[in-house]
Amino acid sequence: MEEDAYTRNPDLLATAPKPKRLYGYDWQSGLISPYRPAPQQQLTAALDAVSLHVHRDQFQIADLGCGDGVILFAALDRWKTGLTKVIGIELDKALLVSIREKAGEKDIKRMELWVGDMTGEGSIYPWPEPQDTQRAENKRAIDVLAECSVVFVYLLPDALVKLKPLLAECLQLGAIVVSLQWPIQDLDTSLMCSDPQQGYYLYKASP
Ligand SMILES: C[S@@+](CC[C@H](N)C(=O)[O-])C[C@H]1O[C@@H](n2cnc3c(N)ncnc32)[C@H](O)[C@@H]1O
Repeated sequence: MEEDAYTRNPDLLATAPKPKRLYGYDWQSGLISPYRPAPQQQLTAALDAVSLHVHRDQFQIADLGCGDGVILFAALDRWKTGLTKVIGIELDKALLVSIREKAGEKDIKRMELWVGDMTGEGSIYPWPEPQDTQRAENKRAIDVLAECSVVFVYLLPDALVKLKPLLAECLQLGAIVVSLQWPIQDLDTSLMCSDPQQGYYLYKASP
């Protein structure tokens, strides 16, 4: 699967900022996509599209497999008001550490991070762990996404297939699902708008 994915998506290898992570990836631990930050230009175009379709005074945005937070920080930067919370779920703790290192105090107030497998095969846990371990509750990914107006994914096509049931649930709950780079197979009836040149696909369940 690994070799296939890279053959079909050579740009993943060509511009990888941290090749070590790609070549030595620990797929066994449950990772379904390697780390690669969303390209800025593509992300800006996707956020422009999102801003045309979010009509709520207060809203939340999530990134599934949030890496080192590129999407979370870009959203916080764009919406100084209205955006009440950004939620990131990530399996690789080292990347969550990197988010916390970069986040300012103001960012942290509007940021909720979870560690664990987003595919729903296991639980996810608040990160960093609350001091009072009594309070640490494990949840399923869908539980923390229920209030989100927008759910981002920037994952390999095979990973999108695996995540489709979760993404379909998010759509049913009324969220816009944004996929960077690749369309999500079998969700085409919910495709609301896309720009393959810019590399984004927005999905919303029809009313
Ligand atoms: C292509 S990167 C995208 C990072 C970030 N969303 C961005 O756009 O900058 C994919 C991320 O998904 C994470 N990931 C892969 N499998 C995962 C899983 N099963 N559960 C949670 N995160 C996962 C990887 O560690 C990686 O950081």
